[in-house]
Amino acid sequence: MAYALVTGASTGIGRDLAKLCAGAGYDVIAVARNRAQLENLASEIGNAHPRQVRIVMKDLSRPEGAAELYEELADLRSEVEMLINNAGVGMLGFFAELDTGKQMEMLRLNVDALTYLTRLFVPAMVARHKGYVLNVASTAAFQPGPLMAVYYASKAYVVSFSSALHNELKPHRVVVTTLCPGPTQTDFQRRAQMEATRLFRGTTMSSTIVARIGFEAMMRGKPLVVAGRLNALMAFLTRFAPRQMAASIARRMQEV
Ligand SMILES: NC(=O)c1ccc[n+]([C@@H]2O[C@H](COP(=O)([O-])OP(=O)(O)OC[C@H]3O[C@@H](n4cnc5c(N)ncnc54)[C@H](OP(=O)(O)O)[C@@H]3O)[C@@H](O)[C@H]2O)c1
Repeated sequence: MAYALVTGASTGIGRDLAKLCAGAGYDVIAVARNRAQLENLASEIGNAHPRQVRIVMKDLSRPEGAAELYEELADLRSEVEMLINNAGVGMLGFFAELDTGKQMEMLRLNVDALTYLTRLFVPAMVARHKGYVLNVASTAAFQPGPLMAVYYASKAYVVSFSSALHNELKPHRVVVTTLCPGPTQTDFQRRAQMEATRLFRGTTMSSTIVARIGFEAMMRGKPLVVAGRLNALMAFLTRFAPRQMAASIARRMQEV
């Protein structure tokens, strides 16, 4: 039996990714904090596909979160063939004014848990000469993001880390893909208090489409995919902009 472990599977992009995993023939380990939403996902998958779904309630922003998850999966962790590190949060505001503890929690979720879970699950994939890792970053990764400085930096880490791993693990037939969504209709913007920003008043994509783009890129062995043609163009053009110019543009997009 092959399992796909999806973090942040209760809502948004992660929920759609979990459904795609089940549709592709994987049993699913769905991780998040909200039990009701995970149970709802499990029954939705159960009604559509003959697949097992194990739900695990876990707060991955706690320092012990990732290790506890690995311990709790002792019976089937060696069967995890696909790891989707999708759980992530953002916070809008001035770095010096935002709650320190919450910013550290964001880093633990967006960076530490993603790194730790990858480190825990990849060796079995290497031993098996087969595996997939999909790390969800953001188009925020490609420039500094005033008013979301820590979030943008966390996503730059995800791109750098995952791109390096893609190179290291390719000879072992383990695919590492980075998905970079642009603004997407999920719970993210409400949680990050970004609903009124220019960024989210503009065009957004549906989580179903973004998840499909990421999943298909991973199945094709791609190192990185930006969701949506316009987002891909913007990410490409950002490479040629002086860094402080890119920061000013990003700041304008984060303003109300
Ligand atoms: N939406 C966008 O515009 C956008 C753009 C670029 C990148 N992204 C990235 O896409 C990923 C998915 O976000 P989304 O847009 O689908 O937002 P979302 O609907 O808010 O989903 C976030 C998921 O992460 C889980 N999560 C949050 N905090 C957690 C914690 N401490 N421990 C465990 N799970 C936690 C949430 O579940 P619980 O609350 O049940 O724990 C939820 O399942 C994130 O990494 C985000 O940075 C989103």
